[in-house]
Amino acid sequence: MDINGNSGGEKLKVLHVSPEMAPLSKVGGLADVVYSLPRALRFMGVDARVVTPAYDGVFDKVRDLGWDLSNTRKLLRVSLNWEVFTARVWRASSGDHVIYLIEQEELFSDKSIYRENLDLKGLLPFAFLSLASLELTRIVPFNPHVIHLHDWGTSMTCIAMKWHPYFRRFAGDLRSVFTIHNLAHQGLLPADHLQPIGLHEAFHINGVEFYGMANLVKGAIIGSDAITTVSPTYSHEIQGPDAGMGLDGLIRSHSWKLKGILNGLDTDYWNPSTDPAIEINFDVSSLEQREKFRSLFVKDAGLDESQGPVIGSVGRLYPQKGMDILIPAIRPLIHEGFRFIFLGSGDPYFQGELDQLAREFPGRIRVTLGYDESLAHRIYGSSDMFVMPSLFEPCGLSQLIALRYGAVPIARKTGGLADTITDVHANPEGYGYLFSDYSSHSLIRTCLRALDDFKDPSRWRDIIEKGMKKDFSWKNSALEYVKLYKDITGLKGHSSDSSN
Ligand code: ADP
Ligand code: GLC
Repeated sequence: MDINGNSGGEKLKVLHVSPEMAPLSKVGGLADVVYSLPRALRFMGVDARVVTPAYDGVFDKVRDLGWDLSNTRKLLRVSLNWEVFTARVWRASSGDHVIYLIEQEELFSDKSIYRENLDLKGLLPFAFLSLASLELTRIVPFNPHVIHLHDWGTSMTCIAMKWHPYFRRFAGDLRSVFTIHNLAHQGLLPADHLQPIGLHEAFHINGVEFYGMANLVKGAIIGSDAITTVSPTYSHEIQGPDAGMGLDGLIRSHSWKLKGILNGLDTDYWNPSTDPAIEINFDVSSLEQREKFRSLFVKDAGLDESQGPVIGSVGRLYPQKGMDILIPAIRPLIHEGFRFIFLGSGDPYFQGELDQLAREFPGRIRVTLGYDESLAHRIYGSSDMFVMPSLFEPCGLSQLIALRYGAVPIARKTGGLADTITDVHANPEGYGYLFSDYSSHSLIRTCLRALDDFKDPSRWRDIIEKGMKKDFSWKNSALEYVKLYKDITGLKGHSSDSSN
């Protein structure tokens, strides 16, 4: 009998399709979700597997991680832009977690994964992944009930299941779930890009047509059997004009199949008591160890050793993340005694502004531009506060990690931030600081509220402890996905025996 109390019945099989999966390839939180959700689902008796590209360096990472890797000796062929592209299929596994890696040197050699311009060349890797994933179910011994698609880059799978002259044959009993991680990216293309990827039959008002262009996310909203967002609040926000970004009317008319399911964290990986990136491990019962690590790290980072709090920030430097209101808030906050430690990359304008601040206030602000997994862990494990003043935030994983590592979040009350943070001054059980108005002024006032509490060590310790004790694992959310899969497949019970 499995954790859902099911015995017997057919095992529920789900194939997750994603252009990124941690720790093999990662741009943001999507990669974390695609690694950790299928693992949580397997724990619940679902045979959940992943298909993702083998970019340059991925095989080395698989080997470094000690995962099993085998060539299935199966070939995938998909015809795109009047050319047949062939890929090798590899099977990587860690314990019972199975990942199909698609090796196609011409399409998947680019390490940046997403390109600035979605021209036809930039579209082909995503089209290949989307269509090859359907083909995969024909050639490997894994016949899923559900194909679970993540964001615009995989939206072509369910568009093809409805409108592609060849791939529509996969529709049959296969059900599709389309998860919106970020509606800002909709896969907007000139209509003439559809013919080369075989999706021209989808170009009409009840398909992908969108003000004369092709909008892939529109097609996935219409074509999928269920839509999810990565937090409940975001599922409501995208039905309004701001977060809806032009698709709110369409989403409202499909709200009957829309559900907001909060992301979880892989609490084994994000665990401050075992994290190898942190020199002095700690947990909620050994906060003095955290304090030791904080002193060590603050010194290493070159920050001066004053009394004020250290605010951490790890993330993509884009307007979504509230950089427009954060950067003007830094000078006044430094004058109030705050210090900052930034890790991120993105918009050259924001990078330049941060660099300038670092030059202006050595010892008060440390900026590292780029992607650095280990440094990110150390920032979570040493900052007093963690700032996320996002303009919009579909879920956000950084605030969950910060909470688990004892850094108190200061965030804008939007999307998943609103769902996961309770304000200290709004609720006696609170463990973070929220503000609504999108302005530097509100952000500064909120930081000053936090500073007042920080000055009272026992109150501060209590706030940290409350946050660290929150459970943001996948337990509840994975169950919600299981229920959704069952609803759309009609599989009421499913067995927990494993198969390969
Ligand atoms: P998003 O997916 O919108 O970027 P999330 O909060 O969901 O935001 O997830 C961000 C993830 O990426 C977190 O795991 C965070 O630690 C990680 N991350 C973001 N930027 C960096 C960076 N420069 N170096 C290391 N990790 C980063
Ligand atoms: C997107 C969103 C982020 C979310 C992540 C994982 O990148 O911007 O809020 O946490 O996807 O779902």
